[in-house]
Amino acid sequence: MNFRITILCDNSVGPISKTLGEHGFSALIEPFQGVPILFDTGQGLTLLHNARRMNKDLSAVGSVVLSHGHYDHTGGLLPLLIEQTPKRIYAHPAVFLPRFRFKDTGECYPIGIPHSRDQLEAAGGSFDLSKMYRQIASGIFLTGEVPRVTDFETGDHELYCDCIAQDVDCTLDDQSLVLETERGLIVILGCCHAGLINTLEHIASLSGRRDVYAVIGGTHLGFCGQQQLDKTISDLKGWGIQKIATSHCTGFFASARLLREMPKEFQVANVGFVLEV
Ligand SMILES: [Fe+2]
Ligand SMILES: [Fe+2]
Repeated sequence: MNFRITILCDNSVGPISKTLGEHGFSALIEPFQGVPILFDTGQGLTLLHNARRMNKDLSAVGSVVLSHGHYDHTGGLLPLLIEQTPKRIYAHPAVFLPRFRFKDTGECYPIGIPHSRDQLEAAGGSFDLSKMYRQIASGIFLTGEVPRVTDFETGDHELYCDCIAQDVDCTLDDQSLVLETERGLIVILGCCHAGLINTLEHIASLSGRRDVYAVIGGTHLGFCGQQQLDKTISDLKGWGIQKIATSHCTGFFASARLLREMPKEFQVANVGFVLEV
């Protein structure tokens, strides 16, 4: 199976004129034979605009995958459903959990999915929720919930499901997409709260494959400590991945480090980035 992957939403833009950036992520997966899939929807400010600028017809998209329930990956879903055709939506059952982050000022603000299930269903979304590793189309798999097994991927520490800082949110709904290609697996990450190495090991244990050709998307390395960044890069080098194209929550510092340590493999995957395999 061959695919074209195009980044539609990201924090930054590439050279395509009049495309826009936002804090968020969305990637369009177009199989050379089959129905396109949208992975994440950004926060809703740029998805439809950028798709038009890139001549991408989102009415052809049959299904949407939500990597997790944060607003910057799910906010574009309602505008998409309202403007385009009905879609099947794949996600983890925890995608609708209330989510909050505390600012340095102590202010609690919501970061969860900004629309209710009822609203989204009324607009034409039909949800298919599961925690399991599963195939969703020919050559396309969803990781489901990713076990946290490494000792250095410690997760986020300031995310809660309430505003009294009691109910810690481990973002268990975080999952990634896996494409089977002739060159090996392509892994597409949303925010990768589960940790990049945890995600790769989970995919390897369930698919029986460690031949990852490319990793694309948000690695969350911009939000982790120095030790996690060091160990993740050192582990990554052992995987033999040929393309590491990072977006969104990777950030400038971790991207610069990846470029320095893995110059042949590293690329910036911002709005307009395309990978064809
Ligand atoms: Fe994110
Ligand atoms: Fe997130």
